[in-house]
Amino acid sequence: MSKILVVYFSATHVTEKVAQLLGQGIHADVVEIVPEDRYTAADLDWTNSQSRSSLEMKDLTCRPAFVKEKSSLSDYDTVFVGFPIWWYREPSIVDTFLEAYDFEGKTVIPFATSGSSGMGDVMTRFQNLLPKSKVMEGKRFSAHVSKEELTAWADNIFKR
Ligand SMILES: Cc1cc2nc3c(=O)[nH]c(=O)nc-3n(C[C@H](O)[C@H](O)[C@H](O)COP(=O)(O)O)c2cc1C
Repeated sequence: MSKILVVYFSATHVTEKVAQLLGQGIHADVVEIVPEDRYTAADLDWTNSQSRSSLEMKDLTCRPAFVKEKSSLSDYDTVFVGFPIWWYREPSIVDTFLEAYDFEGKTVIPFATSGSSGMGDVMTRFQNLLPKSKVMEGKRFSAHVSKEELTAWADNIFKR
């Protein structure tokens, strides 16, 4: 039986809410990507070019540390990965997560929330970071997306 995981990073709880609704809708385990150093409001100030998030996102090799709670993802063959769009892509801590586990043979589906941007560079970046996985087309959702809408989106992916 195929087991599904929803993992998410969320700095201000918007993606967290969406991830929880998706997890409930598709009966998946839900796990948070917890930063070793949580982001403060000052860290998230995108108008300040010297803020932590600005510095991290400018450096494509930056890999902020997260708390590694699971030793492996071998229980799962499908992983939804949720995050806020930061500077038109996934926050670098999501890259840290993707590189920390063996995703070979798994189906990976990104999803995001944002102020207004779409998925931007996410699909290309995920495919490059996960060359041995089947990366399915992801989607950006508004903060007010319903459980029904999320479930219908996921069900449609499983039919492909
Ligand atoms: C550092 C930073 C960069 C952001 N960059 C974008 C962006 O490029 N496009 C956009 O539409 N929203 C952007 N946002 C807004 C977030 O994507 C949006 O508020 C998101 O829903 C927050 O999710 P969270 O509460 O799960 O962290 C940015 C926010 C931050 C803090």
